[in-house]
This record gives sequence, structure tokens and C-alpha cells, in this order.
Amino acid sequence: MQSTPRIAMFSTQAYDKQSFSSHPLYSQISLSSFDTPLSAKTASLCQGFDTVCAFVNDKLDAEILRTLHDAGVKHIAMRCAGYNNVDIDCASELGLAVSRVPAYSPEAVAEHALALIMTLNRKTHKAYNRVRDGNFDLNGLLGFTLHDKTIGVVGTGHIGAALVRLLTGFGCNILCYDPYPNEALTALGAQYTDLTTLFSTSHIISLHCPLNEQSHHLINENSLASMRDGVMLINTSRGGLIDTRAVINALKSHKLGYLGLDVYEMESELFFRDHSSEIIQDDVFERLASFHNVLITGHQGFFTIEALNQIAEVTLENMIGYNNQFATPFANGAAPKSRFLVLP
Ligand code: NAI
Repeated sequence: MQSTPRIAMFSTQAYDKQSFSSHPLYSQISLSSFDTPLSAKTASLCQGFDTVCAFVNDKLDAEILRTLHDAGVKHIAMRCAGYNNVDIDCASELGLAVSRVPAYSPEAVAEHALALIMTLNRKTHKAYNRVRDGNFDLNGLLGFTLHDKTIGVVGTGHIGAALVRLLTGFGCNILCYDPYPNEALTALGAQYTDLTTLFSTSHIISLHCPLNEQSHHLINENSLASMRDGVMLINTSRGGLIDTRAVINALKSHKLGYLGLDVYEMESELFFRDHSSEIIQDDVFERLASFHNVLITGHQGFFTIEALNQIAEVTLENMIGYNNQFATPFANGAAPKSRFLVLP
């Protein structure tokens, strides 16, 4: 396969078009972009394409993968790191290659997690509105000093490690949990521990592990009960790590003192689109958003200029590299294997 690869890109936003089309490798592909997400209804659009380029909330279950395979698609190029929405076993059975962007500016997501921590704590989002309104009253804006607090980081891969590095600058005590500890973080003063100790000791818990069968609803009624009263919970990873109903109950009982989310279990129905003139039908989301101590952003942790450029570059390299069976050198040195979850 050496001819120009024909790519169908789903869930395309204006910023995707901009970052992909301005990259020099763009001239080596033929790209058709669809604003719509990939779903059972839209999979039929893929007839005649070699590669499908998908994002976090596109659906790639067994049924859809079979439709893509039957349509002649050979490669699923994820333009993100997480791949919990892809049935990898089925892709493997069908011989569909699956690639992703293993790390794009992990600092971007770590900095966003820190922004959620700082905003929830010091309430700058509320202060901004008050001061604009001529209200200089400080009541209700009381925060706590981050220095010396214990922060639990669950998952210390690219993003969790970047957060640990940031937090060392604040003089926090850092507890980590990961099945594969990173010695470089221990050298910085972070301590690895078991999940039970991390949950029961931390003032702030930040989630950075992938969503899979083991981590689904990691935050549930039982784990919440084991935490400190008034704990702050931050999730910039994947919504399914949290049992949203359990978290709502924990907010109502004051067990959870602060909640910062960049991801939400049912986000595929809401995120990345403007619903401001509609009636939102998701009552669980609406209840969550109603708490004064909950801050939700719409999956924007990755959303920096640097990260978008890296996503475009690595995805283009994956698409062209697959087409040339990896003959194209990969600019940032990452071996094809680390980018291809399923090799052809
Ligand atoms: P990574 O693969 O570098 O690190 C994940 C770490 O989690 C690994 O060290 C792994 O050993 C560990 N881990 C696996 N299962 C675990 C468990 N049950 N408990 C604790 N640790 C566990 O991934 P990276 O790049 O750090 O990304 C983390 C997650 O962040 C991704 O899975 C993705 O869901 C999410 N993400 C969110 C973005 C956003 O815009 N909000 C953007 C990019 C990624």
C-alpha cells in the first residue's frame, strides 16, 4: 500500500482541521472530515476509506469495527492517548491496525488538573464574578494552603508523573499508587503506597490511570467512605473511573468537600458541542453541576497549542507510516510499536 491514504476523520472540530492542515505531512494524505461522531449510524460513511481517524468519544465497539472492516478500512488511527472506547480484541481478530498518540504534552493535562485544584481551593472563578459585580466580600472564598498537604496521585504514567513534578514545587507530601512505580518520582520525594493508604490519608486525590475493567468505578461508595472527610477529588482521566451517583451522595453528606472533573461518565452525549440553548436531559449531570463545590470542564485537559500540534504530527506519522508499512521515519523517535496497539 503506497498510494495516498484516504482518511475519514470523525468528530472533527475547527481546531482539528487547523492543526492537521497546517502540518507539512498533511500533503501526503487525502482527508475527508466529518463533524459527526463515529457511531452505528455513521459507520457506513467509511466506504472507500483506508483509515478512520477517531477521538475519545467515537464508538469503536465490535459491531462498528466489523462494519468498518467490511467497508475496506484497514487502520484505526486514534488521535488521543486513551483507547478504552476501542474493542482491541475484536480489532485484532479482524486484522485492523490500531494506532494512537501515546503521549502528547502530558504537562498540558497535569497543568489542567492543577488548575482545577487551585480554582476549587481558592475559588478564583467565584472571585472573578464577584469583583466584576463590585462585590469585594471575602465570605465564602476561604481556601487552604497547599504547602504540606498530602496529595494522592493514582497512576503515575506520563500525566501523573508530570503532576507529581509540579506538586513538588508546592511543598506537598505526595503519595502515589501505580502497579509500576517510577523511581524518578521517588527520587523527587514522592512515596509509593497501597491504594487503601492513599485513599485514607490524602487531602486531595487526583486520578491519572486508564479506564479498564479493573479501574471502572474505582471511586465508589466504599472507596469514598474510606477517605478523609472533606477530601478533594480530581478526575482528568476518564469519567468511568467514578461512580457518579456515589459521588453525588458523598457531596450531599459532606464526605467530599470538593470535586473537579474534566471528564464525565456519560460525556459522549454532551461534551465537545454547544447545548446552551437546549434543555439538558441528563439529570445526573445537572445535579452534579448544581453543587457550589463542584467544578466541571468539558474534557479540555489536552487543549493546548503544543498538544494539538503533537497530536496532529504523531497521528499523521501513524497514518502515513502504516500506509508505507513504517517506512516513514517517526520524527520524535517513538518506535512504531508504542504507537500501534494492534499491528497489522
Ligand atoms: P500512561 O499510560 O502514561 O499512564 C497510565 C499509568 O496508570 C501507568 O503508569 C499504569 O501503570 C497506571 N495504571 C494502570 N492501571 C492502574 C490502576 N488500576 N491503578 C493505578 N494506576 C494504574 O497514560 P497517561 O498519558 O498518563 O494518561 C492517563 C490517562 O489520562 C489516559 O488513560 C487518558 O484516559 C487520560 N487523558 C485525559 C486527557 C484529557 O484531556 N483530560 C488527555 C490525555 C489523556
